Amino acid sequence: MPQLGEKSLAFYERAKKVMPGGVSSNYRYYGEEETPVVERAKGGHIYDFDGKRYIDYRLGWGPIILGHAHDFVNERVTEAIQYGLSFAGTQKYEVSVAERMIDLCPGVEMVRFSNTGSEATMHAMRLARGYTGRDLILKFEGSYHGAHDSVLWSTPGLPVTPLNERNHPVPNKIGTGIPDLMSELMVMCRWNDVEMLGEILEEKGEQIAGIIIEPVLGNSMALTPHPDYFQFLRGQCDKYGIVLIYDEVKTGFRIAPGGAGEYFGVLPDLSTFAKAMGNGYPIAAIGGKKDIMMHLMPGKVFQGGTYSGNVVSTAAADATLERIQSGEVFVQLNKIGGILMDGISEILTRYDIAHHLHGTPAMFGITLSEQKPHNWRELNEMCNIELYSDIISHMIDNGVMPEDEGEPWFLCADHTEADAAESLQKFEDGVKEALK
Ligand SMILES: Cc1ncc(COP(=O)(O)O)c(C=O)c1O
Repeated sequence: MPQLGEKSLAFYERAKKVMPGGVSSNYRYYGEEETPVVERAKGGHIYDFDGKRYIDYRLGWGPIILGHAHDFVNERVTEAIQYGLSFAGTQKYEVSVAERMIDLCPGVEMVRFSNTGSEATMHAMRLARGYTGRDLILKFEGSYHGAHDSVLWSTPGLPVTPLNERNHPVPNKIGTGIPDLMSELMVMCRWNDVEMLGEILEEKGEQIAGIIIEPVLGNSMALTPHPDYFQFLRGQCDKYGIVLIYDEVKTGFRIAPGGAGEYFGVLPDLSTFAKAMGNGYPIAAIGGKKDIMMHLMPGKVFQGGTYSGNVVSTAAADATLERIQSGEVFVQLNKIGGILMDGISEILTRYDIAHHLHGTPAMFGITLSEQKPHNWRELNEMCNIELYSDIISHMIDNGVMPEDEGEPWFLCADHTEADAAESLQKFEDGVKEALK
């Protein structure tokens, strides 16, 4: 991550005095001299307190789909806030966003809003439990579903645990403070592994309320499953009466205008959305089949939140989704993302580095290995993560900032051909440096 300059370091010192680690999320802490600080951002670029500019491929870890400080979105918000922010009553922007989501996302028939992806996955899991009357939720290792206790098991960034006597993953929690008891409500499975999933469901299928899955591993280099994996998953959920939940917090409105349902052509029962739907404004949603969603009613399954469906967030989402509905956004994302993916692959081939690209142009990952990794375990065990991090560190020193490990590259519609050309040049420089 970036070596901080004099003014950025002074600012970070100030932050550390008042916030643990000087950050608002553990994930943002990278050490005393490399924790990113941002003074401002515009389009596809961010600037630190020394005025250093970076081409930004982290994009807040996914939310920025149009561009930072986007005028079209900001204008809609500025207009909306003249008439109030929070009413404890239904307002026009939330209904408009729900209509746009139903129009864009196949399988979404009704919507409820929240503010963060964590709230959305928490509510979706509760809804699956309430709907089925069962307690267990199946989660895949290497997926991240937010900051609540139920899902902080076998997340990316944790060391890979040994398999149990039946060759199934043992859950491993992140940090302290999470009761071990929570893991008894979760069933862990290897992602993209038809055999293991079939085996687990044969044993426990009728006790499982929901399967929650990141359709593309948004925290593990955008690994993408076998094309027939979702068919299998859908079939198994139908067989055992399990609610299939796509966690589209990262993939929604990013891998395709209609997310994973559109991209893979197999529909879930419920989906959770956040990030790209608000272009950086805090908003999230649960969407899905009407008969399941209608359980979110008094006396049935609880869902709530003071700021759920507030004017600022929904006005931002209204503008963002309007732009996505126009079709232009994905033309640009696919164009620039495609240039980067092709260019990176060409450079790695020229330097004789075995590699694989994963994901889609708006969210792609690179792994350095002979064999293609098919899940998080293989990603950790087979790939040269150190060489990748070295390449990216050199890029960051030179003003181009993807994440240096784990997270894919994120694109926004404000990235330009000039950004792509500069990024590829810096990528090649990074490869040369890393191989020295
Ligand atoms: C797939 C996925 N689900 C849920 C979350 C949690 O979202 P939030 O950080 O908004 O709570 C994230 C965050 O990165 C995510 O990537």
